[in-house]
Amino acid sequence: MLNPTCFYLPFLMFFIVVPLLSVNQSSATATVNNDAVPFIRKSCNGTEYPDTCIYVLEGDPRSRTTTDLKNLTRISMDIVYEEAIELKSLFIKAGENATDPVLKMNIRSCIGEFDIGSYHVKTYGIPYFEKGDYANANSQIGYIVGGSSNCNDTGTKLFNKEVETSFNFSCNVLDLLSMLPSGTNV
Ligand SMILES: *[C@@H]1O[C@H](CO)[C@@H](O)[C@H](O)[C@H]1NC(C)=O
Ligand SMILES: *[C@@H]1O[C@H](CO)[C@@H](O)[C@H](O)[C@H]1NC(C)=O
Ligand SMILES: *[C@@H]1O[C@H](CO)[C@@H](O)[C@H](O)[C@H]1NC(C)=O
Ligand SMILES: *[C@@H]1O[C@H](CO)[C@@H](O)[C@H](O)[C@H]1NC(C)=O
Ligand SMILES: *[C@@H]1O[C@H](CO)[C@@H](O)[C@H](O)[C@H]1NC(C)=O
Repeated sequence: MLNPTCFYLPFLMFFIVVPLLSVNQSSATATVNNDAVPFIRKSCNGTEYPDTCIYVLEGDPRSRTTTDLKNLTRISMDIVYEEAIELKSLFIKAGENATDPVLKMNIRSCIGEFDIGSYHVKTYGIPYFEKGDYANANSQIGYIVGGSSNCNDTGTKLFNKEVETSFNFSCNVLDLLSMLPSGTNV
């Protein structure tokens, strides 16, 4: 079953946010691994974008070594966060030399989306997860789903693949969260 959350995106407004200048560059780069990890294949099979799920999780040493769905989901939340921080920093760099006003506006919008999204996942989403409140963790991940979609909708051709990975993978995390036996019902 697909989680329908990815189809109705509640966060369609554009946020203009002054980005923090001291970006903590964390690397979310996936290294290509060709050897399959059965637990990842099995878990990703239930997600909406299994190819992206497998590609991202098999490319990360943290997820490669876990065999527990709760831990895999928790690691996936870290990865979603790191991808958002990485995208924010890529757009900040791209904005440095941009001169076209439309491009500058789109870049600013994408910076805002990933700034807000990463903030929500780190500040609220992960703590909700730690408390076993997966429903609220889900809605915080929704900021990245919506933010990636909004950024893509600006039509900027910058970092298309990374933005799409962020969209696909954050949707997958919603599916992983929904597979966990519900913890605290708040
Ligand atoms: C993926 O899911 C399908 C349908 O539920 C199932 O038939 C298949 O065996 C699963 N594959 C893996 C690798 O778990
Ligand atoms: C899950 O993660 C916790 C904390 O990192 C660790 O102590 C535990 O051994 C992990 N469990 C599995 C089954 O991987
Ligand atoms: C912006 O321009 C400066 C000066 O030409 C150059 O050194 C820098 O690499 C450029 N930055 C980007 C992100 O292209
Ligand atoms: C991204 O935008 C393109 C059009 O520019 C569209 O075809 C595609 O469906 C969008 N993807 C997402 C995830 O919104
Ligand atoms: C996102 O998912 C779509 C649908 O499965 C796929 O065609 C596309 O290649 C994925 N994008 C990335 C960057 O993984």
